[in-house]
Amino acid sequence: MSSYRDHYGRSLEYLRVSVTDRCNFRCPYCRPETGELYDPPADHLKAAEIARVVDVSRQLGVRAVRFTGGEPLLRRDLPDVIAAVRDLGVTDLALTTNAWRLAKRTKSLWQAGLRRINISLDALSKDRFRRLSGGLDIEPTLKGIDAAIEQGFEVKTNTVVMAGENSGELLELAQFAWARGLTPRFIELMPIGAGALATHRRIDVEEILQAFDAVPEPQNEAIRYGRGPASYWYHEGNPHQKLGVIGATTRNFCASCNRARLTATGGFRPCLASNLGYEIRPLLRQGCTDQELLNGILEGMGRKPEGHRFHEGLAGQNAMRGIGG
Ligand code: 5AD
Ligand code: SF4
Repeated sequence: MSSYRDHYGRSLEYLRVSVTDRCNFRCPYCRPETGELYDPPADHLKAAEIARVVDVSRQLGVRAVRFTGGEPLLRRDLPDVIAAVRDLGVTDLALTTNAWRLAKRTKSLWQAGLRRINISLDALSKDRFRRLSGGLDIEPTLKGIDAAIEQGFEVKTNTVVMAGENSGELLELAQFAWARGLTPRFIELMPIGAGALATHRRIDVEEILQAFDAVPEPQNEAIRYGRGPASYWYHEGNPHQKLGVIGATTRNFCASCNRARLTATGGFRPCLASNLGYEIRPLLRQGCTDQELLNGILEGMGRKPEGHRFHEGLAGQNAMRGIGG
């Protein structure tokens, strides 16, 4: 256990690593219709560079890594990236994906050491899925979900709730998950990326829960609200019908935030809602020492704000696809 604490007393245990800023989907809360800029591929950190950042971050307490994007499956060497981190001895490895290209890759990901996958699923109705994904069919994603379950991964579904879009479909989405033994999670839209222009579509956690007959999971408050951003509930009191809600905007969990992010191009970002951080790629490519790398990460962590200011209407300018949801 590292004794590292940031300015506000928070630890660092969890790193979210974006492996690419590219995505095959165009979710309305993430990608704008036009005007996107992309990183030059040469700037994307290589597997060994990512592993090195994780390795040094471990000195501060990082013990779990989630790979995100963009869409991480667009990166061909994703299994190599994961295996490089696994080979450091990090066992808590997870992936966030839209699963559209997952079905054929479950085996190689499992072999690389991955065990948990969060799959974005914003709609079950074909038309709505096509609209929300930016024109793609739902079938490959459904196949990806089944393949992941079959391979033995722990799977969760993630749904960003949008008024007038999928808000009437929440119980169906949950039933889809429960029928497969999965835990669905419902997320409040955040004013980040294209989401900053869609705040009128946000449905608060309290209202999300009204779609269910939800009772809190019978655990103490500290566990329910303290550990991660999600709180868990049982539909009709049934432990086999568990659901998670993430109130990114209305419930502020910044005080217990134990995470940081690494962008695809090596930007160390201590907070989702801020562009502040430290650019690590130049260090890495200049052949820095581990101590210099550690100093860079500490510099980045030193810029972690006390909390987001979404409630004041201050949106992060970062697109999620760049910093890894
Ligand atoms: N608000 C909430 N969640 C978002 N994501 C991306 N953008 C937003 C946003 N503006 C999350 C979604 C998606 C994951 C890749 O990133 O949960 O499933
Ligand atoms: Fe792609 Fe994820 Fe952004 Fe959707 S939220 S456009 S799947 S990166």
